[in-house]
Amino acid sequence: MRKNIVAGNWKMNTTVPEGVQLADDLVNLLKGTKANCDVVICTPFTHLCAVAAILEGSPVCLGAENCARHDKGAYTGEVSAAMVRSTGADYVILGHSERRQYFGENNEELSEKLRLALDNGLRPIFCVGEVLEQREDGSFNEVVAGQLEPLFNLPVDDFKKVIIAYEPVWAIGTGKTATADQAEDMHAFIRKQVEEKFGKQVAEATSILYGGSCKPGNARELFAKPDVDGGLIGGAALKAADFMGIIEAFS
Ligand code: PGA
Repeated sequence: MRKNIVAGNWKMNTTVPEGVQLADDLVNLLKGTKANCDVVICTPFTHLCAVAAILEGSPVCLGAENCARHDKGAYTGEVSAAMVRSTGADYVILGHSERRQYFGENNEELSEKLRLALDNGLRPIFCVGEVLEQREDGSFNEVVAGQLEPLFNLPVDDFKKVIIAYEPVWAIGTGKTATADQAEDMHAFIRKQVEEKFGKQVAEATSILYGGSCKPGNARELFAKPDVDGGLIGGAALKAADFMGIIEAFS
C-alpha cells in the first residue's frame, strides 16, 4: 500500500543556525514516539549538509526545495541534482507553484529537472495546483491534468518514485484551506489520471499529499480522506511543535 507522508517545505526561511535548531527540535520531539507516517523536511540548499548531520540516526528524511535543469557546468548560482544528492538528501520538491509563478518553470523545464533528480537517486515531490481564477472558472481539473504531463512521460519505474503534492495556490500561505471534500475530489481526480496512464496498481501505490495552510487543527480531517496521503507543509513546518502536531494527525 502507499505511504503516508508529512513533508515540510521551509521555503526561504531560517538562517543555517536557526534551521539546525529547528531540525534538532523536531528530532527531539520525535524521540520516544513512533510516527505513523514518513517524515521529510525540505530545506534551503545552504542548510542541507548541516541538517543532514542532525537528522542522522533519526526517522526524519531530508530534501531540497529545487534543483537545476542542467547536470553541471557554467550555470553560476545553480545547484545540481547530484550536488543535492551528495549532501545526503533523498527528496527534492519540483514544480512548486512559487517556482512556476516567480521563476517561470514550465513543463519542459520540469521534465528536465525530473530526469536529473531521478537519475541522481532523488525522489521528486512534484507539485501541482490551480490559481484562484481557475478554481472559480471551473478549469482546475484541466489545469492540474496539464501540470501532470511531465510525470506521464516518465517510464513507469521512474514514476513509481514520485510523490505528488496537490497545492491549490489560493490556499498557500493564505490561511484559507481547501475543504477536505475539495482536496479529496482533486486527489481522486489525480489518482484517476495516474490510473489511466500507468494502471490501477501504480495509481493505488502513489502517495498524493495536500498542501496549502495545513495545520495541526485541520490536518486530521484532511488526512482522513481516502485519497489524501499526507501533507506538504509550509508555514506550520517552521515551528517544530506545529509540524509535530500535523505528524500526529496520523495516529
Ligand atoms: P503553507 O505552504 O502551508 O504555508 O500554505 C504550503 C506550501 O507552499 O508547500
